[in-house]
Amino acid sequence: MSEKYFIKTYGCQMNVYDSHRMAMMLEDMGYQKAEAQADADLVLFNTCHIREKAAEKLFSDLGRALIIKNEREEKGLKTIIGVAGCVVQAEDEQILKRAPYVDFALGPLTYHRLPEILKQIKNKKNTGVVDTDFPAESKFDFLPENKAEGGCSFLAIQEGCNNFCTYCVVPYTRGVEYSRPVEDVIDEAKRLIETGTLEINLLGQNVNSYHGEDKNGKERNLAYLLNKMAELDGLKRLRYTTSYPADVDDDLIKCHHDIQILMPYLHLPVQSGSNRILKAMNRRHTRETYIEVVQKLKQANRMLEMSSDFIVGFPGETDEDFEQTLDLVDQIKYIQAFSFKYSKRPGTPAAVMENQVSEKIKKERLDVLQTKLFALQDEFNQKCVGKTFDVLFEQKGRHKGQLIGRTPYMQNVHAAAKDEMMGKICKLKITDATTNSLTGKVI
Ligand code: 5AD
Ligand code: SF4
Repeated sequence: MSEKYFIKTYGCQMNVYDSHRMAMMLEDMGYQKAEAQADADLVLFNTCHIREKAAEKLFSDLGRALIIKNEREEKGLKTIIGVAGCVVQAEDEQILKRAPYVDFALGPLTYHRLPEILKQIKNKKNTGVVDTDFPAESKFDFLPENKAEGGCSFLAIQEGCNNFCTYCVVPYTRGVEYSRPVEDVIDEAKRLIETGTLEINLLGQNVNSYHGEDKNGKERNLAYLLNKMAELDGLKRLRYTTSYPADVDDDLIKCHHDIQILMPYLHLPVQSGSNRILKAMNRRHTRETYIEVVQKLKQANRMLEMSSDFIVGFPGETDEDFEQTLDLVDQIKYIQAFSFKYSKRPGTPAAVMENQVSEKIKKERLDVLQTKLFALQDEFNQKCVGKTFDVLFEQKGRHKGQLIGRTPYMQNVHAAAKDEMMGKICKLKITDATTNSLTGKVI
């Protein structure tokens, strides 16, 4: 009987992509996906370090994994426990000190070494491996071919970040910027389309700073790549995330006018509406330059809607600074957004800034901001009632005969639809809306 794997993914879309690639590697080695952790011979935690308590969550999950491992041991079954992702990069050897039963730990840039490490562990040649290299080679050159899991796929084109926002761990965990060559991206996109993908979301920590080489060694920008992607037969939807406001150039703005399959929805994190705070965050945009970019994007495509990330309670944030954030939200009218309380990340400049904001104020500000953001999201969703959208079905609903899909604006839509519509695009009339989702009828 084949061995089984279980992967738990925390955090961002890049981690979802990495977990998918690790799953593909394991399947190439003969592993099958386990339905439950207790059935798995290999348990892998792909971790996130972006905000608070990520490491604590990992150690409590690891504690539970040890209990399951011991229970399996009593039945004569072995379990390998591994950890991957950004917490590994940040905690390094500490992981094994706190959880000595972990068999291996791989950073986000070394997970292509998974098959080799598993072989060593199984042959008892090695154990307790921690690999947090920033290797000279690119992991992408060593990963087996990617395959689609459904109608919608992520494709990593860029990794790492050189921006060093003062609150952020990414430059330390994912390293400096790296862009994959144009041809590699196109090849992977073709394979995803051949195996059933209709929508591709190009991923990068700072995706619009993409500068991959083409076959002649010439550096190409994201706009070039988007145009190349738009030429691919069978691709119906294109997205890219996450963008850095100061790197949105005119070529990219033009794509939102020219490329039909580029979805009219852009995630462009602003973080704060106060120039003083943006400066302390080391962001290279001001509220004015941000608003200008959004205006240009909306001029390029009048249907375009925005989403964003916000941090409240960054060190030194006053009531006036926070008011500026609320005011910006009113101006841009985001249709979706993620908002977080500032959390100290060890080793980042903001963690040692003096004027930290109290937990109480952070919570109050987050409540106020989220109330506003949810009201805008609800307003947009209500406006969609009666309209018709192309919806790409991505998962089964809770009820029999129900599927859940996404509109071009990333809203979830529930609809009665046959199972064979999974992974396909359908026209739906929206009949109902709540803050978090829509209901539609296939037409
Ligand atoms: N505290 C709170 N939020 C953070 N983010 C990144 N670092 C921190 C931090 N230290 C948020 C930002 C970013 C999103 C992915 O996570 O808003 O855009
Ligand atoms: Fe972190 Fe800033 Fe880079 Fe985004 S742009 S990954 S927030 S350092």
